[in-house]
Amino acid sequence: MARPTHHAPRGTFDVLPSEKRLRRRVELVAMTILGRAGYEPIATPIFEETDLFERGVGRSTDIVQKEMFTFEDKGGRSLTLRPEGTAPICRAYLENGMHKLAQPVKLYYRGPFFRHERPQAGRFRQFHQFGLETIGSDSPLADAEAIILLADILAELGVPGVKLRLGSLGSPGSRASYLAELKAYLRANEADLSKEVRERIELNPLRAFDADDEGTRGVMAKAPTLLERLDTEDAGHFAQVRSLLEADGIPYEIDPTLVRGLDYYTRTIFSFVCSDLGAQSEIGGGGRYDGLIEQLGGPPTPAVGWAAGIERIMLALAEDEAPARARDVFLAAADDDQRTRALALANELRHAGLSTEVDLAGRGLKGQLKHADRIGARRVLILEADGSLQLRDMETGDQRQVGPGEVLDELSR
Ligand code: HAM
Repeated sequence: MARPTHHAPRGTFDVLPSEKRLRRRVELVAMTILGRAGYEPIATPIFEETDLFERGVGRSTDIVQKEMFTFEDKGGRSLTLRPEGTAPICRAYLENGMHKLAQPVKLYYRGPFFRHERPQAGRFRQFHQFGLETIGSDSPLADAEAIILLADILAELGVPGVKLRLGSLGSPGSRASYLAELKAYLRANEADLSKEVRERIELNPLRAFDADDEGTRGVMAKAPTLLERLDTEDAGHFAQVRSLLEADGIPYEIDPTLVRGLDYYTRTIFSFVCSDLGAQSEIGGGGRYDGLIEQLGGPPTPAVGWAAGIERIMLALAEDEAPARARDVFLAAADDDQRTRALALANELRHAGLSTEVDLAGRGLKGQLKHADRIGARRVLILEADGSLQLRDMETGDQRQVGPGEVLDELSR
């Protein structure tokens, strides 16, 4: 079983060895592609001061209002299990003086994140992301490179049915006048809106585009969009990102109503969805967040990034990694003397880089061969009672005698 199955109602899951292979492949592909592009790994703590997320992610967001695992430590400080990675990385950038490094600073990360959401397929309370942040560049090239790298990772993994949606939220100036227009429009149509949207007209009117009730959707279909109201500079930035993606052959759809669940975004936003995934179809997304570092007390520092959900990617791949014959050799011993010899020989072979196992359960020779097959050993080296050695190929069943001096050479083939 290679798919994470959640333990309702906790919304958490165990990562079993059988599932770990696929997980490892996903992580390895991502880290390799990002490393090749010059991104460097960073890790931040699992918990942070609550204030970081309130200021960074935004007090009006669902994440901060409903989904954070927040607790008080023994000193009375409010701490929160990180619901996302961008605000912590910006904090780390500031606290560690990373603005003094060559800019932009290009970082990647992976690890567990926590949101108190209603658990369902593809939505967990502890889940894992890998992500990228490019801090210190306002160039559309940084947006395009970030998007191209995620597209590349998903293609390399073979995730089927991937679509890229692209939008722009403009910068705070153009957004403010648009928001005023949108609020007026929502108020004029208040009667048809859901209660939740109505209550949040002032706080977060953009989320109305996200609502799924029919009344609100009808109103939003005719609402003015931010894309139509971008100022010249924001529109120019967006046009450049689009033409860079086109030059690289990355297909995308413009989504004028694309919104994201975090408040820090400015200008470019994007979302990679997988049509095979049902309700939780977003496998990764992100955007530009030019104001976040300043909001956290730093100098104005433009940045862009994304994060992808590892479990969602695994669900989309919907494949069990073939339980490959993963052990190079199993040493089967005919008697107790040979068991002693087997343990020492196993150590030697392991030092030579071969994955090697011995019987740890006192099985007879026949039982050991059966066990070797079960655990997927490619070959078995039988240590006979007279000291001779038989090498058996578990795929073909071929068996022949080998001399003690030939063992390493034979096994390394
Ligand atoms: P996000 O869209 O909130 O963005 O999360 C990124 C990805 O994490 C989602 O696309 C989804 O695949 C996965 N994900 C989110 N919540 C869950 C959940 N409850 N269970 C399983 N998977 C989930 C961020 O977190 C931003 N920090 C991305 C970013 C980086 N923006 C700029 N830089």
